[in-house]
Amino acid sequence: MVKRNACIFISGKGSNLKSLIKNSRNHNFPISIKLIISNNTNAKGIWLAKVNSIPYLIINTKNRNFENLILNKVKKYKISIICLAGYMKMISKKFINNFGKTIVNIHPSLLPKFKGLNTFERVLKYKEKKTGCSVHFVNKKLDNGKVITQKSFFVEKNDSVKILKEKTQKLELFAYPEAIIKIYRNN
Ligand code: GRF
Repeated sequence: MVKRNACIFISGKGSNLKSLIKNSRNHNFPISIKLIISNNTNAKGIWLAKVNSIPYLIINTKNRNFENLILNKVKKYKISIICLAGYMKMISKKFINNFGKTIVNIHPSLLPKFKGLNTFERVLKYKEKKTGCSVHFVNKKLDNGKVITQKSFFVEKNDSVKILKEKTQKLELFAYPEAIIKIYRNN
């Protein structure tokens, strides 16, 4: 299988990154991770780039030119898909246009419900019966692109924000690889 070059954007722990790295070792998995980008110098996920010898770039989003720096790098590595994995910064419309290829994101709710931040608090507030995670294409509106894969579970009586987060993040580790496979299934 011809693997597509992928770049993963992170800001924090990198559990989704870890799962994507693990899956990409399988020769049938459609992407190969060529580059990791973090907007946070202290992101634990950077360690995963180091131990797996994957090139990485730490960007300073206070630099007005930071998106151009990213674009140059993704061009250099011939990236054809960007996976946002806990990347806590909005991607600009200009970046989406200039990259011109696939960008996907993972979000901790059953979209279109609860776009944006504090999803677990809102799941409890609105007494949702079910919640979960969604992998979706990124378009110019926040958490608004077409959903590729969702995984859900029933909210239990004693579930707190912390428990909902743990349960959701466990599902994410399966949802992201599944979505990547789905994107390339017929290509
Ligand atoms: C995930 O819960 C994801 O849904 C959200 O940020 C978290 C990332 O966690 N966008 P990690 O960095 O992959 O551990």
